[in-house]
Amino acid sequence: MTQIDVSRFGRVAVIYGGTSAEREVSLESGQAVLDALNAAGVDAIGIDLAEGLSVLLEASFDRAFIALHGRGGEDGCLQGALELIGKPYTGSGVMASAIAMDKITTKQIWKAKGLPTPTFMSCPSDAAVETVLKNVGVPAMVKPAREGSSIGMSRVDRAEDLPVALASARDFDGDVLVEAFVSGREFTVAILGERALPVIGLSTPHRFFDYEAKYKAEDTRYRIPSGLDESLEKEIQSLSLAAYQAIGCEGWGRVDLMLDAQNQPWLLEVNTIPGMTSHSLVPMAAKSVGIDFQALVLEILEQSL
Ligand SMILES: Nc1ncnc2c1ncn2[C@@H]1O[C@H](COP(=O)(O)OP(=O)(O)O)[C@@H](O)[C@H]1O
Ligand SMILES: [Mg+2]
Repeated sequence: MTQIDVSRFGRVAVIYGGTSAEREVSLESGQAVLDALNAAGVDAIGIDLAEGLSVLLEASFDRAFIALHGRGGEDGCLQGALELIGKPYTGSGVMASAIAMDKITTKQIWKAKGLPTPTFMSCPSDAAVETVLKNVGVPAMVKPAREGSSIGMSRVDRAEDLPVALASARDFDGDVLVEAFVSGREFTVAILGERALPVIGLSTPHRFFDYEAKYKAEDTRYRIPSGLDESLEKEIQSLSLAAYQAIGCEGWGRVDLMLDAQNQPWLLEVNTIPGMTSHSLVPMAAKSVGIDFQALVLEILEQSL
């Protein structure tokens, strides 16, 4: 049970749902957050952004807990609208949200700051397959620049499969990223305030951590503690925090990365509004250090005070 004075939050609008490809996940995250806030005695209401911005403008609330994933909610647009109406909100601000939504821009910043991220190229629709093969090669991951939940993404092992992969990514975003495939182990690091929580190891028999593996498969494995030795665990935590701060993220988030056979880490992306369902990764990391779901939600909300 929480000891904190929840009246300081005033009325909290949990904004969720929306219209992005990740709507379903967001409905679940938003409901879980709303339930936790209500159980903690917070005066909280839910707003489904799919009903349009006018619903938000007409609602009466003091601050927002944003539980939207993907475009329109995680990308700075909603953050900008809340800035304009003077309502504080959870998580990263306009610019960091917009940058983090765009995997190409994120990687350009990491590269400029000397943080390790796999070789990549931004791939315009007229890019020749030969150019992609020359700059990145195969195996590669082909991704829409601004999607999440592995949507529109493919792993390409053979050059001849590249055109189809590029076309399916382009169905989701005109900007497509081709990135060198890192074969090795996958990890994710939750960030809460200024600290990196324990590293979570992920494994799946799928060819990569795809939508099925994330939300449906029974054979996805999560390891926490990660099983890494202490120095590597610490190195990955501090790299993840540096990667998050390099983008200007605030409040909370989650950094995804790979570790190759030489134990060299490679940063993939930062999520500014990661999943917040009862079985999501940030709650899992928080739980491992004694922060239950309700305490986590309140701690994220406190960052907006
Ligand atoms: N360069 C890469 N090498 C190996 N696997 C990758 C690479 N990029 C992405 N993946 C796999 O694809 C998944 C989704 O990629 P990610 O960049 O995290 O996008 P999303 O926003 O969809 O989560 C990762 O969790 C990982 O399993
Ligand atoms: Mg990811």
